[in-house]
Amino acid sequence: MTGHNLRQKYLNFFSSKPRNHLIIPSAPLVPENDPTTLFNSSGMQPLVPYLLGQPHPSGQTRLVNSQKCLRTQDISEVGDNRHTTFFEMLGNWSLGDYFKTDQLTWIWNFLTQELKLPKEKLYVTVYQGGDGVPRDEDTYQIWKSLGIPEDHIFFYPSSKNWWSRSGTPQEMPSGEIGGPDSEVFFEFTQVKHDPKYGQHCHPNCDCGRFLEIANSVFIQYQKQTDGSLKELSQKNVDFGGGLERMLAAINDQPDIFMTDLFQPIISEIEALTNLQYSDHQTSMRIIADHLKAAVFLINEGVEPSNKLQGYVLRRLIRRSIVKLYQLSGTLKPNYLSIIAKQGVISTYQSRSTPPFPNFFDSNQKQREIFSVLDNESQQFIKTLDKGLKQLNQLSPFDLYQTYGFPVEITQELYAQQGRELDLDQFNQELKHHQDLSRTAGKGMFQGGLQDHSQITTKYHTATHLLHQALRQVLGDHVRQTGSNITHQRLRFDFTHDQPLSNQQLQQVEDLVNQQIKNKLTVTCQTMSLQQAQSQNALAFFAEKYGDQVKVYSIGNFSKEVCGGPHVANTADIGPITIYKQESVGSGRRRLYAKIV
Ligand code: ALA
Repeated sequence: MTGHNLRQKYLNFFSSKPRNHLIIPSAPLVPENDPTTLFNSSGMQPLVPYLLGQPHPSGQTRLVNSQKCLRTQDISEVGDNRHTTFFEMLGNWSLGDYFKTDQLTWIWNFLTQELKLPKEKLYVTVYQGGDGVPRDEDTYQIWKSLGIPEDHIFFYPSSKNWWSRSGTPQEMPSGEIGGPDSEVFFEFTQVKHDPKYGQHCHPNCDCGRFLEIANSVFIQYQKQTDGSLKELSQKNVDFGGGLERMLAAINDQPDIFMTDLFQPIISEIEALTNLQYSDHQTSMRIIADHLKAAVFLINEGVEPSNKLQGYVLRRLIRRSIVKLYQLSGTLKPNYLSIIAKQGVISTYQSRSTPPFPNFFDSNQKQREIFSVLDNESQQFIKTLDKGLKQLNQLSPFDLYQTYGFPVEITQELYAQQGRELDLDQFNQELKHHQDLSRTAGKGMFQGGLQDHSQITTKYHTATHLLHQALRQVLGDHVRQTGSNITHQRLRFDFTHDQPLSNQQLQQVEDLVNQQIKNKLTVTCQTMSLQQAQSQNALAFFAEKYGDQVKVYSIGNFSKEVCGGPHVANTADIGPITIYKQESVGSGRRRLYAKIV
């Protein structure tokens, strides 16, 4: 069976009678309304409000999908036969609708009847109780009534059979929801008879003999501020099963990288390096996983940078580059694009299966992906060799600062030599450097102002107009990455990966000048960052602000979180002209404009 068939089978099973689930699309990897986390790492994450009792916009109480997930906490585990950062989670939910009996019966039937997994290879686990919550007797009885023999049912404490985003009941912060869960494990034939694996282990043992393929969570508790658990007003089911892992079980092949969701990527890596997967499994798995994750992130508009999601993307790309370089001894800037095109995109494109309709089908989108990968490779390859040669002469901070080595990569290169990296020292140096540049840039951040004289204030407001105009003309991917103002001009850096045509430049300039002509009033309000974001205010430097932020609105044209100051009315600015554009490296453009 292929990965796409499996996804479709699961969605069909849960959407058909008598289960009647509504198929919902995958949410993006970067959460839309959840500033507490960088990525969606399980299917329930975007559904928390509905698990808490708010009605789902569809009006339905049974949902099913395949959610794209990214788990950065697993990054150091990638390289074995079953861990990845990116994966698809097959999920179904009951929002206060059906509960344990239906869920466990359906998932058992799906695994044994639809997928035809042999019953004797399946093991289930049950919550043994703890933290003031009783043993899950119901689940135990249901599994028994489904014919599962006693010696295939295992009880575990909260550390293994409780699920919330943060872990055990003790680890949950107040407000978080969770509950006892019940997992299904698959035992591989090949592994069972391989003496290298534990013969006396149990499903939750880490030796690799058993693979978790399904997890039914009974979300029914919310942590209170006093540390206790309170029953939710509704009892929910949150099911998650890894698509890639379930596929490995169906094939009875313990290496998920041998499934068709990875094989085309591995083949491309073999072709480019002229090496065999069987001789270089760890490195090739890392490249395959990281590059797949990177392609999905870029597809959502994430760009490599030194913070937040952009930093994770940079790490994924640069680690793939280091591994490729170590394998092949040479590297061209388009290697990642080639693997992305022939491996990742070809695997996921043109599937009519919801929730991935026409996933990478736009040529424009594909070009963007290749261009980001090429730019980042070009930039890093230039310094990679020098950095590697000086690995033992320079400090990790200098390698980071001068050669763009993410510290985790240096840490790994050290480990290959049996050395340990002093992460505390690195962090201290980084902090010292950031403090210095913050002091140097203090005035800078106030919008890149040298002083608050009248002329620079005008330029500052013009910068907001320019930012919004660029987004309207070029698209929402445009984000400010820097700004600098003198008495003579404004300079504005933003994300965009190709030169602007003369026509685009004219459109942007006209749009700005139109707002100036319209005599728009500039107003300022103070609010929480969250409130600002919920009003769609642009806030690309959000982490630099305190709790309360100032939001400047220019008529209905622009709304941006900013320290100010600004003119009171756009008429005070006077018309501007854009007189120069240039590239400032990887996917960034710079414009210069002056007031005429
Ligand atoms: N939310 C559960 C998990 O991530 C299903 O395993």
